[in-house]
Amino acid sequence: MSKPGYGNLTVLLHWVTAISILFLFGLSWWMMAIPYGDYRFLPFQLHKNLGITVILFGLLLLFFRFRPRPGRLPDGMPRWMYHLAIADHVLMYLLIFVVCFSGVLSSAFSGWGTDLWWTLTLIPDSAAEGWESEPLNILFGEIHVYSSWILLALLITHISGAVFHAFRRDGVLRRMFRV
Ligand code: HEM
Ligand code: HEM
Repeated sequence: MSKPGYGNLTVLLHWVTAISILFLFGLSWWMMAIPYGDYRFLPFQLHKNLGITVILFGLLLLFFRFRPRPGRLPDGMPRWMYHLAIADHVLMYLLIFVVCFSGVLSSAFSGWGTDLWWTLTLIPDSAAEGWESEPLNILFGEIHVYSSWILLALLITHISGAVFHAFRRDGVLRRMFRV
């Protein structure tokens, strides 16, 4: 018999994903402000590596949330709020993947390669390989920025919902603090 609510692995993955994404937002605004030069290389590599790892966290979170299945939403919640929560969750998953894949594609055409955590070459150096493309880098870069803003708006909605449930003391917040 499965316990109601999220499993421990889902809770753990939720927080690893959440902390990584919040860190990525902070890191990106700092790294974009660094003047051009070698000093930019390390924060960019860290951003790209953590971002690629978030794809894996997101996929695992999606997989494990179904085992055991999350509990029902609390009674007495307006219907629109229930639908907003579901829509926000679905869109967050979608946007996490759009943000990450547009980042991968933008960086693939930028002329710079990416070694996954400084080991395996995941994105080859397109400048050396001869398929560097400024227009494609800009196109996917724009998708990356705009989708990041949409993800941020969804996160603000999500965290506002969490604060609302904290004041309501209806047990929803406890589902994500039970490892
Ligand atoms: C970058 C930050 C975050 C991301 C990407 C994120 C993502 C998600 C996702 C995708 C779900 C849906 C899980 C599912 O049912 O499949 C979820 C659920 C949840 N999150 Fe977050 N989250 C973040 C931050 C937070 C924070 C800061 C809190 C609390 C203060 C929080 C509290 C919760 C709770 C309580 C649920 C369960 C809601 C329910 O059972 O209906 N999350 N989160
Ligand atoms: C959820 C994960 C991610 C978030 C939230 C995120 C967020 C951001 C943000 C907010 C920026 C700043 C954009 C600007 O102000 O112009 C940025 C830049 C960038 N990101 Fe990400 N990112 C993520 C994942 C990735 C991934 C997976 C890659 C590639 C492997 C990547 C590659 C880049 C690059 C190359 C830039 C610099 C773009 C430029 O020079 O114009 N990001 N990211």
